[in-house]
Amino acid sequence: MESLDNWQRTSYCGTPRLAQVGQEVTVMGWVHARRDHGGVTFLDLRDRSGIIQAVCNPQVSPVAHAAAKDVRLEFVVAVRGTLSKRPPDTVNPNLPTGEVEILVTELRVLNTSRTTPFPVDELTEPTETVRLRYRYLDLRRPQMFKNLQLRHRLAKTVRDYLDGEGFLEVETPFLTRSTPEGARDYLVPSRVNPGMFYALPQSPQLFKQLLMVGGIDKYFQIVRCFRDEDLRADRQPEFTQIDIEMSFVRPADIFRLAEGLMVALCREAKGIEPPTPFPRLSYAEAMARFGNDKPDLRFDLELHELTDLFRHTEIQVFREVIATGGVIRGLIVPHAPLSRKELDDLTPLAVSFGAKGLAWIRLTPTGWQSPLAKFVPDEQRGAITATLGLKEGDLLLMVADQERVVCDVLSRLRLFLGEKLGLIAQDALRFVWITDFPLLEYDEEAGRYVAMHHPFTSPHPEDVLLLETAPSRVRALAYDLVLNGVELGGGSIRNHRLDVQQRVFAALGLSESAAQEKFGFLLEALAYGAPPHGGIAFGFDRLVMLLAGASSLREVIAFPKTAKAVCLMTQAPSPVDPRQLQELHLKLDL
Ligand code: AMO
Ligand code: AMP
Repeated sequence: MESLDNWQRTSYCGTPRLAQVGQEVTVMGWVHARRDHGGVTFLDLRDRSGIIQAVCNPQVSPVAHAAAKDVRLEFVVAVRGTLSKRPPDTVNPNLPTGEVEILVTELRVLNTSRTTPFPVDELTEPTETVRLRYRYLDLRRPQMFKNLQLRHRLAKTVRDYLDGEGFLEVETPFLTRSTPEGARDYLVPSRVNPGMFYALPQSPQLFKQLLMVGGIDKYFQIVRCFRDEDLRADRQPEFTQIDIEMSFVRPADIFRLAEGLMVALCREAKGIEPPTPFPRLSYAEAMARFGNDKPDLRFDLELHELTDLFRHTEIQVFREVIATGGVIRGLIVPHAPLSRKELDDLTPLAVSFGAKGLAWIRLTPTGWQSPLAKFVPDEQRGAITATLGLKEGDLLLMVADQERVVCDVLSRLRLFLGEKLGLIAQDALRFVWITDFPLLEYDEEAGRYVAMHHPFTSPHPEDVLLLETAPSRVRALAYDLVLNGVELGGGSIRNHRLDVQQRVFAALGLSESAAQEKFGFLLEALAYGAPPHGGIAFGFDRLVMLLAGASSLREVIAFPKTAKAVCLMTQAPSPVDPRQLQELHLKLDL
């Protein structure tokens, strides 16, 4: 093994071109491939920038040629030599450096490598378990480098844009008190305060509000948040937010700022600028038209309200649902190119989404084809067909149930069909604001109202009077930004007046003493001239994922965790030494 000694790298592997032919170059990297041909050894050397061919010819350097015999894949080497033009018949059009090669005069083996558990290239797709176990090898693959590079560039774009808008990046504590954002807290025991715990922040929500009370006026932070919740492809236990708060603002000011930021990010990532202002949908309209509050607007296929159409139906299941306060809604799939088998397969799918069944009507040249046909007399069929504007070949899919179930099932069916029928414009970026969320929703399990966004959100000024009389009808000054069906960010105008914040806590069933105990510091701060303020936080990992065209957050996080919140590389979480527990005054009860 040799050392770098006095060697200086002159270029990355991926950068030499014809223009540099004749120059002496020194490159360093990993052995990507090794081939022996007619007494000459060819090494492909790889680093983060790409690959270059190094030729070890005994006529040029017998020592380097001999050394090249012993190198294996993923050995770390440095080569020095003359950049030369490849003979025309050996040009590799698939490599940016394919017209040149290095005629090696010196080769140093800087380190060896075991045989890797998977080849480091773009052709092999190892299982994710193996990739995460050996993440440092996975990171050598070009796609991972590209993703991390994009992430870096987007973080820089965020800082440049917000700096230009007069924002200050301020750090807030990780060891803090619990801030409720709807998930469980990660707790950290305090050694010097036996029996006491910090919580890792689910977001810097309260600190950013206190920064506004502190007169900072425009705050942002690219910040890690920690949430102990059930994980999915678009959720990690620790994730990064672009967290923003501003004073003396209305929602429109926050929309304008956020849209400018999104345009800057899309320009940086894809060279395209989505048109502004972004469309807005009220929560109620999003639920009615798409069945959820994060609609994918890359395709149409909207929900239709059918309850009235079937109010006098003979169909037993529909009658029962309507009689118990439920609704019937459906999707119309124009000229649905589905076979009978594909159609039949939709029923178990809908059931797996929580439906009790899926009713359908297909309009054929000879009229209705439908399991329901025999329950619907001719004139009713005509009326339904006409009201919905059904045309030959169209398919109507219907779910009858309580509204919440119908919305959920149809919104998922909508996404499934959008995917299956190829309706989704894959490279489109469709932003939409969802506004006018309800402030509170009733939680059956808890037996009380809970905040739909978080407890610091301001009620709509027109609805404040309803806080005590009709809590479920209070609208919030809250908004979400959705991109291609993914909730990218959410925020609100906050309660800057102490009396309003206290009334919201009361509506949440929080007694005065409990509110004082948990959020006394906030309530106190509000009493010292808190300015009107509001903000938003974007999921930075989700943003990078969408702009990278990746399908999971794990593709854009260097060291992510699995769905069981485990790091397969470090094996965290892990048991700890009993002495550590003792110092923390903790006993396990497993
Ligand atoms: P919220 O809880 O909506 O708002 O979070 C903001 C955004 O963060 C992203 N996000 C996540 N990303 C990855 N993994 C997770 N587990 C995860 N949870 C949330 C989402 C989400 O839209 N303090 C408020 C913001 C505010 O009111 O200003 C907050 O945290 O993209
Ligand atoms: P059944 O009366 O169970 O034979 O169902 C008759 C048709 O109605 C079948 O196509 C079922 O899939 C459908 N169906 C049953 N329950 C529902 C429901 N809650 N919503 C929509 N369709 C249903």
